[in-house]
Amino acid sequence: TNMELRITVIGTGYLGATHAACMAELGFEVLGVDVDPAKINSLAAGILPFHEPGLPELLRKHLATGRLRFTTDYAEAAAFGDVHFIGVGTPQRAGQHSADLTYVDAAVTSLAQHLDRDALIVGKSTVPVGTARRLRGMIDDVRAQHGRTGGRIALAWNPEFLREGRAVEDTLTPDRLVVGTGTAATASPDDQVADEALWAREILRRVYATPLATGTPLIETDFETAELVKVAANAFLATKISFINAFSEMTELVGGDIRILADALGHDARIGRQFLNAGVGFGGGCLPKDIRGLQARANEVGAASAMRFLTEIDDINLRRRDRVVHLATHMVEELKGARIAVLGVAFKPESDDVRDSPALDVAARLYNAGADVSVYDPQGNANAARRFPRLHYVDSLAEATAGADLTILATEWSEFKALRPSDLSPRVRKHQLIDARNVLDPTEWAEAGWRFEALGRKAH
Ligand code: UDX
Repeated sequence: TNMELRITVIGTGYLGATHAACMAELGFEVLGVDVDPAKINSLAAGILPFHEPGLPELLRKHLATGRLRFTTDYAEAAAFGDVHFIGVGTPQRAGQHSADLTYVDAAVTSLAQHLDRDALIVGKSTVPVGTARRLRGMIDDVRAQHGRTGGRIALAWNPEFLREGRAVEDTLTPDRLVVGTGTAATASPDDQVADEALWAREILRRVYATPLATGTPLIETDFETAELVKVAANAFLATKISFINAFSEMTELVGGDIRILADALGHDARIGRQFLNAGVGFGGGCLPKDIRGLQARANEVGAASAMRFLTEIDDINLRRRDRVVHLATHMVEELKGARIAVLGVAFKPESDDVRDSPALDVAARLYNAGADVSVYDPQGNANAARRFPRLHYVDSLAEATAGADLTILATEWSEFKALRPSDLSPRVRKHQLIDARNVLDPTEWAEAGWRFEALGRKAH
């Protein structure tokens, strides 16, 4: 049966840990692999090293069923697996815009040097177009160097579209599955490359032939299309957000209401309302680095002009942070010594991730300009404190806003969306608030005597 296929997941961060637990949930025997023993020990003990709703339960469930195990040993992984998913990180290179492929190359090399049996390697990491084809050659070279001649090897690229905070549901019920192989579907079947592609597709169809994936569109294509689908999707989402934020810059000057503008646009089914929430902009471990990486790759392949708009998307996004800092500076008159409460530091709600977080960036900039900044995030404090230790991290909204001259709602946790003027009025020193996520009702706050500013509105 399909369940006889044994699966390894290499790299047990967000993507990998989720994929491993979900594959176990689908009935497979799964081995999670990582070079970081601390991470592996934690996962093996049922402790997830990051916040992701539903995932700790799934992890513990399948540690108990015995379908999910963890190791740091590549030799064990190579002997165990029929299918090896690669889910290691591809961060932005320090000081550059391109993606750092060190971890992908290392994972594939470490695996290939032990592979002496049939195996399908499946890349899930987000990579610059051209990476899969390069890796395919590298796998043969590494195996040859280590005298590994046994078995048949294939490579496929199967990008992951999961969102943080919804990683489990996105993995178990994806919108689509994309599988790229070394050749197009139309290639002649007696060609050796085509043979490998057919074999890879057949195995991945079996992996995904589970009740949960029934009815999910499965797109089988070449390496390059598969690699590009992922970055194109993220570029499109980033573009939608920066598009509405660009209109925020207009309405801030001429008047108008950005939320109503977005709603009205969204009624056009061709446009759609999602990802048109104006605010302090996008952050996180994917959107910012992926649009930069795509631009960098485009430059390398001679398509600089085609992707130049992404630089603009990035600039619009970063200008939103400037806007909040500017508004804050203006409202407190003198940043030095001003008490500012920042509500939220995670890059979005339901996440403890502060990578490229607009909220943390704004908080840090206000601190650096002399403000006394208190921060409260329901999940993100610890990660933020590791990155920027000098802010005053507190454990409740009440503590953060006590004596504040200005309150900034920077991440739209439901706890903050439910805020009423009466919750804050007795606590703060000055009744001033910036809604950097456009989630509160301006009229209500104005009527309660607050100076209320939101992004995408003309300042009072
Ligand atoms: C994103 C993609 O959605 C996902 O498909 C891909 O696999 C990884 O990158 P994620 O980074 O988890 O997922 O977050 P997402 O929910 O897309 O939000 C990204 C950022 O955009 C957040 O900072 C969020 O606050 C911001 N955002 C989103 C807006 O500012 N406005 C919106 O309307 C939507």
